[in-house]
Amino acid sequence: MVTFVISYFMLLNLNPLEAQLSVGFYADKCPTAESVVRAVIRNKVTTDPLNAAVLLRLQFHDCFVLGCDGSILLRHNAGESAAPGNAGVGGFSAIEDAKAAVEEICPGVVSCADIVALAARDAVSLTNGPFFEVPTGRRDGRVSRAEDAANLPDSEDSIEILKSKFGEKGLTEKDLVLLSAGAHTIGQAACFFVNQMLDSAPPISPEFFGNLRSRCPEGGDVNVKLPLDWDGELLFDTHIFTNIKSGRAVISSDAVLYQDPATKKLIDAYATNSSAFAADFAGAMVKLGRLNVKLGGEGEVRRFCNIPN
Ligand code: HEM
Repeated sequence: MVTFVISYFMLLNLNPLEAQLSVGFYADKCPTAESVVRAVIRNKVTTDPLNAAVLLRLQFHDCFVLGCDGSILLRHNAGESAAPGNAGVGGFSAIEDAKAAVEEICPGVVSCADIVALAARDAVSLTNGPFFEVPTGRRDGRVSRAEDAANLPDSEDSIEILKSKFGEKGLTEKDLVLLSAGAHTIGQAACFFVNQMLDSAPPISPEFFGNLRSRCPEGGDVNVKLPLDWDGELLFDTHIFTNIKSGRAVISSDAVLYQDPATKKLIDAYATNSSAFAADFAGAMVKLGRLNVKLGGEGEVRRFCNIPN
């Protein structure tokens, strides 16, 4: 049996001992990798606290297209980053800087895909969110095509479509609430997205509608940014759930989560239970970070995050 298992992995060009994500994957190969990444990310977030949200969002946009393989970082005109669904996604230079710092100490060892996941974790904890262990060992993909990003969840999707897009990835309604509404506890949305909601008879309070409209006037600059969590875009807390409950969601995909009985119940529960939110959010992030990962002999460890080797 043991011989069979070993031959099977050899056939797939995988090392059976490495062909899975594990916490502390770099402990013997590059012991300081996680702390080096963290120092770079801390610096980025100290320089501009809004960078935390940018890096958290980057992991979602990496993992939902071809899995968590750093494919969004491969930057060329027809790559994922050029897809309309990835408009406004950033954090590339922070990841490239963290990669450069790690390459200095352990060249060719730490994947860009892992750095994206570690950076998102660090970003969350630097905004007062939970610190959690991130299983590592992802390999980097070599392919990045804009068309693969066509089916990303969209802020105008109905609750049914959002549930189904998450379901296709093995993510539950609970993951949807935690990862979309939950992650929107930090960061901003451009008037472009706010306007889309205001133009569609949204389920938000009339008073808040007027407030948003005054900040995002018709014909105004669609690049102006508003906090996704009205009570604070820099701190990881449960206000986003209270806001969604009271009709103060800023984008439609957050508002519609309060229209479905199952997701509504979850929002009600997290609004008054910050420790459950923190713990469950950490679990959902680890789950997100496992989507279609490349392992063992698959893919590569890029030397530079923006180009394949
Ligand atoms: C239902 C799925 C989701 C939809 C439709 C959605 C939509 C959006 C939109 C429209 C924005 C504003 C972007 C901009 O103005 O540039 C945004 C921002 C953001 N999203 Fe999501 N999102 C979803 C899920 C997620 C997930 C799973 C995460 C992370 C785990 C996430 C994290 C963020 C963060 C942190 C921001 C703020 C980014 C910044 O400040 O630059 N989102 N999202």
